[in-house]
Amino acid sequence: MLRLGVNIDHVATIRNARGTPWPDPLRAARLAEEAGADGITAHLREDRRHISDADIDALMANLTLPLNLEMAATAEMQAIALRHRPHAVCIVPEKREERTTEGGLDVAGNEAMLADFIAPLREAGCRVSLFIGHDPAQIEAAARIGAAVVELHTGAYCDLDTEGRHAERDAELAGLVEGARLADGLGLEVHAGHGLTFDTVGPIAAIPQVKELNIGHFLIAESVFIGLGGAIRQMRRCMDEAQRE
Ligand code: PXP
Repeated sequence: MLRLGVNIDHVATIRNARGTPWPDPLRAARLAEEAGADGITAHLREDRRHISDADIDALMANLTLPLNLEMAATAEMQAIALRHRPHAVCIVPEKREERTTEGGLDVAGNEAMLADFIAPLREAGCRVSLFIGHDPAQIEAAARIGAAVVELHTGAYCDLDTEGRHAERDAELAGLVEGARLADGLGLEVHAGHGLTFDTVGPIAAIPQVKELNIGHFLIAESVFIGLGGAIRQMRRCMDEAQRE
């Protein structure tokens, strides 16, 4: 079954806007579990703009679901991951000035560095995932350096959908479909995420090689109106329907 990883970063964004202890990301993670999430994703950014070190401590100590820790390929983050040994570590590109993770990781251009970077994480038992676009060169490089997983970046597909640029959206979707097939053929587990909504999740959930979706911002946004549990359950229904079709 296609797994749903719920990204709780923006629960922390709301908390940090006021410097209060609420809303608590751990409480959101527990609620996500009750609503049927299969995992929790949290991005510890270098600038700590949302998730904090204390959040990661609390999630690791209390969560029964597997934690997927998103992080940049820096020595500081590597040390944190090695201390916690979460179920999965997803390496993402990070620029201080960006609003969110804007593009995929350049694995092909940094193959030796990333191979060295992920080796101790693999040895520590973390499933290493690389967040990349669907370019075959990136997928092949991810396989060569021994990543277990690639997470395909769905942000461009979602943006093109929102902007009503349907021909370009369909071309982007075709690239994701091909990328998933290539990655699976190379023995990589395929995940996908970024920007997904009730409207855009279907075609991604229907890609047979995709085993996990990681979704955050839209679920937290929608929870203002229908609650976090309601948003997660509706997303799950959208995923299940797409797979049945
Ligand atoms: N996957 C990765 C690797 C991400 O960096 C993010 C955003 O932090 C997501 C998935 C979730 O994206 P969104 O919050 O837009 O659903």
